[in-house]
Amino acid sequence: MKVLVVGGAGYIGSHTTYELIRAGHEVVVLDNLSTGRQHNVHPQTSFYWGDIRHKSDITRVLEAEHSTGKPIDVAMHFAAKLIVPQSVSQPLAYYENNVEGLRTMLEALVECNVRNVVFSSTAAVYGEPDAPECSEDGPTKPINPYGETKLACEKMIQWVAAAHGLNYCILRYFNVAGADESLEIGLDKDYLTWLIPLIMQAALGIRDKLFIYGNDYNTPDGTCIRDYIHVTDLAQAHVLGAEYILKNQQSLLCNLGSGSGYSVKEVLDAALELFPVPFEYAARRPGDPDILIANIDRARKLLGWEPTRNLRTILKSDYDFRRKLAESRRG
Ligand code: UFG
Repeated sequence: MKVLVVGGAGYIGSHTTYELIRAGHEVVVLDNLSTGRQHNVHPQTSFYWGDIRHKSDITRVLEAEHSTGKPIDVAMHFAAKLIVPQSVSQPLAYYENNVEGLRTMLEALVECNVRNVVFSSTAAVYGEPDAPECSEDGPTKPINPYGETKLACEKMIQWVAAAHGLNYCILRYFNVAGADESLEIGLDKDYLTWLIPLIMQAALGIRDKLFIYGNDYNTPDGTCIRDYIHVTDLAQAHVLGAEYILKNQQSLLCNLGSGSGYSVKEVLDAALELFPVPFEYAARRPGDPDILIANIDRARKLLGWEPTRNLRTILKSDYDFRRKLAESRRG
């Protein structure tokens, strides 16, 4: 199949591109390089610079690829803003980029007759769930603009699919981390709020220490429990998801996590077995639920997918990538 990866210079878009190419598919990347980096774009892809908020940037790519005699089969959307605290302080920027960007992209796809879409969604659509394990049919109650915009996007895709005969694969990510085993790509953003990147920054001396936000949660060791998934396992699920909708001409929405939870303290302890990390306990961060774990039965059943990389592999690959990046920056 021939896949358009919108946001293919970013973290998850680039890992998905690598897995698509490894699986023998053809990839075209569209990215405005606002947060993505040119060096993340796989050399075997056709790269177009463009912004999804401008319809002509998308139709130009779809028409150019159509004229080669091999049109785009599936479009994947990764071009979103995704930092929760930033979404709280800049909600309009999130609605513009995430919701308006997707609306424009869908309009271009419908006009150019591309009928299969894979969309990156998030566990943030669940908000603070009543039960620790989240299933796709459970209630969606986002508690920040990031989650709200992703939920709005999910609904938009579903309405457009019904009206225009699209097939969609919506994937709700839990806590993604790690780097490709080649160490050619990984998460190379500077402004980070997530646990695993911050552990790495503390370990590499990029920040003084890691703060553990709260140890009085309703969990065995008092720190929050989350579901961590290796970015390559996640990327492979996108390949299967795209193949699934194309082959079956059916849509699906599913969670992507590991299906098991680790507390902040357990993640830190696993990291400490690999390298030293200075840390300190601090006050709770607002809005953190005690436990969030994905139920991944649907992805297993429909996609035949199984995450295979454990927490140690996630941490080791993330550390190795970041150390390589820090060394290359030092020159
Ligand atoms: N944490 C710390 N110290 C830090 C950073 C995080 O103790 O320096 C803790 C948090 O308090 C939380 C846990 O580590 O208990 C995980 O926090 P992250 O910020 O890494 O991830 P979240 O689970 O809060 O949220 C992330 C994304 C969301 C996404 C969600 C999916 O920010 O967009 O994963 O589960 F929806």
